[in-house]
Amino acid sequence: MKQVNRFLADIFKEHRKELITILIIATFGSLFAAIIPYIYGRLFDFALIPQTSLNILISLIVIWFILSIISNYTSNKTGLMGEILGAKISLEAEANAYAHFFSLPVPFHKKKQKGEVLRKLSRGAWTLQNMIEVVSGTFPQFLMLIFSVIAMLLIQWQLALILIFAFIIYFLITIKNIDPILKIQEEEHKIFEKQYGKVYDKLYNVFLVKNFAMEDDEKKRLFNSFVTKLVSSLEKTSTKWARLSIMQDIIYSVSFVAVLGTAIFFLRLGELTPGEFIMFFGYINLAFGPFRSLSRIYRLFKRSSVAIKRFIKLKRIVPESMKHGNKILQSVKGEITFENVSFEYLKNKEVLKNINLKIKQGETVALVGKSGVGKTTFSELIIGYYQPKKGRILLDGVDISKLKLKWLRNQIAIVPQDLNLFNDTLINNLKYANPNATSEDIIRAAQAAFAHDFIKKFPKGYKTLVGEDGIKLSMGQRQRIAITMAFLKNPKILILDEPTAALDAESEKNVQKGINELIEGKTTIIIAHRFSTVRNADKIVVLDSGEITEMGNHDELIRKKGLYYKLYTLQKGLN
Ligand SMILES: Nc1ncnc2c1ncn2[C@@H]1O[C@H](COP(=O)(O)OP(=O)(O)OP(=O)(O)O)[C@@H](O)[C@H]1O
Ligand SMILES: [Mg+2]
Repeated sequence: MKQVNRFLADIFKEHRKELITILIIATFGSLFAAIIPYIYGRLFDFALIPQTSLNILISLIVIWFILSIISNYTSNKTGLMGEILGAKISLEAEANAYAHFFSLPVPFHKKKQKGEVLRKLSRGAWTLQNMIEVVSGTFPQFLMLIFSVIAMLLIQWQLALILIFAFIIYFLITIKNIDPILKIQEEEHKIFEKQYGKVYDKLYNVFLVKNFAMEDDEKKRLFNSFVTKLVSSLEKTSTKWARLSIMQDIIYSVSFVAVLGTAIFFLRLGELTPGEFIMFFGYINLAFGPFRSLSRIYRLFKRSSVAIKRFIKLKRIVPESMKHGNKILQSVKGEITFENVSFEYLKNKEVLKNINLKIKQGETVALVGKSGVGKTTFSELIIGYYQPKKGRILLDGVDISKLKLKWLRNQIAIVPQDLNLFNDTLINNLKYANPNATSEDIIRAAQAAFAHDFIKKFPKGYKTLVGEDGIKLSMGQRQRIAITMAFLKNPKILILDEPTAALDAESEKNVQKGINELIEGKTTIIIAHRFSTVRNADKIVVLDSGEITEMGNHDELIRKKGLYYKLYTLQKGLN
C-alpha cells in the first residue's frame, strides 16, 4: 500500500498544476452547490409569508437558477479535466512501462511469458486512468459532503447526528467487508495473467499447435483454464459484492426513514420551519449521494491498488544497464579475456566451468563442441546478457561489467543462430543495425553478404515487407540478412553463431566468402558445427561438459586425436 501511495504521490507531484486547477474549480462548484438547498428552503419559507414582496421571491429564484448553472458547469468541467488528465497520466505510465520492459535483463525476458507481462502493464495503466478520473470526479462530491454536514448541523444538530452516525456505520461495514473480497480478487488477477501468458505463448507458436494437430486439445485447455478455473472464483466475489451492496442499501433506507420521522416530529414541535425541513432533505441528498459514491471509490481504490501494485512491482525490476558501470573506452582494440569464468542458469548446474581464454585483437576463434555444451551461452556472456557467476570477462583489459552496456553492445555484432525480423520492410530492418546507413551502404553490405541477389528478385526489392504481415524468408535468407546487418554495424568484435548452418553447399561457399571479408581485421568468435567453417580459424577451442578440453589450430588438434579429431572424422565420414 505504501508503494502505491508513493507511486501516486509522485504522479500527483508531476501534474501539480493541473490537479490544483481541478481542485480550485471543484471547491467553488461544491460551495455553490451547497448553498442551493439553503436558497430554496428560504424561498419556501418566504413564499409561505403573504407579506413577502415579489422582488425578494424573484431574486431568490434568480440566484437559485444562477447557482445551479454554475455548479452544473463546474462539475462537468472538473469531470472533463479529470478524464483528460487521467488519460494523459495513464498513457505516460504505459509508455514508461513499455520502455522499462525493454530495459529489463535478459533472464527476466527468458523466464517470463510476454502475454503475462503485457497484461500486467496494460491493466496497470488502464486502472491508473480509471483511478485518476474517479478521484478527480469525486473530490467535489467529498467537499459537498462536508459542506452539507456543516449545514445540517447548523439547521438541526440532532438530525445531523443521526445521519453522521449512519454514515459511520455505512463506512465501517464497507471497509470491513471489502478487504477479504479484494484478497480473492488478487488471486484472480494472478490466474488471469498466467492464463494470458499461456495463451500468448500458444498463439505465438501456432504452427507448433498445427503441426501436432492440437487445436482441439488447446480448446479444451482454454476452457479449462479460463472458464472452469475463473468462473467459480468470480461467482464467489460477485456474491460477496452483492451482499455488501444489500447491507449498504439497508443502512441507507433505515437512516433515511429515521431522519424523516424525526424531522416530522421536530416540524410539529415548531423547532423546524417547513423551509428548513425542505432544506434538510436537500442536504441529505447532497450528502448521501457522494457518500454512496465514496464507498464505491474506496472499493475502486483498493481494487486498483491491487493492479497498480503488480504494475509497480514490474517497474521495480532493475534495468540491466544499471548492473553495469558507466565506463567507455576511447579506442577499442577488441581483445577479449575470460578469467576463471563460471556460469550457471540454474542453481548448482554449471554450464561453463572455469573458462580461461584469451582472444587477441583481430584473431578468429572457433568454438566447437556438442550441442548444448554452452557455446551460445559463452557468446551471450560477452554481450552482457548474463553475468558470470565467478570470474571476469575483460575487454582490452577492462572488466566488461564496468563498461556501459549500450556502449559495449555497440562494439559487438552478433549473427544469431536464428534471426527474427520485425514486421517491416527489409530496408527498415536492415537500417536497425545502423540507422545512419545510406542506400548505397546497405546495398554494398548486402552484396558482401550475398543477400543482394535474392533481395533484388522480390518484386518490391528492399521495400519488401517481411515478418508476420509479409514475406516469410527462408532460414538461409535470414542468415544472410543477419550477416548483412553485421556488415552494416561494422563493429570491432564479431560473434557468429552457426552463420552458415542453414545454407546449401553452394550458398555456403558464397556466404563463406562474404564472411571472410567481414571478419577481416575484427576479433571474431565463430561457433560452428561444420568444419569447413572452422578449419581456417586461428584458434579452435573445444568445449566439453562446460570446460575447455582442447585448444589449437586445425592441424594441431587433428594430430592430438582428441574430441576434435573424433568429431571431425565423424563428419567427414558422414559426408
Ligand atoms: N535460459 C536458460 N535457462 C536454463 N538453462 C539454459 C538456458 N539457456 C540455455 N540453457 C542450457 O544451457 C546449456 C547450454 O546451452 P547453449 O545454448 O549455450 O548450448 P549450445 O552449445 O549453443 O548448443 P547448440 O549447439 O545446440 O546451439 C544447455 O544445456 C541448455 O539447456
Ligand atoms: Mg547454440
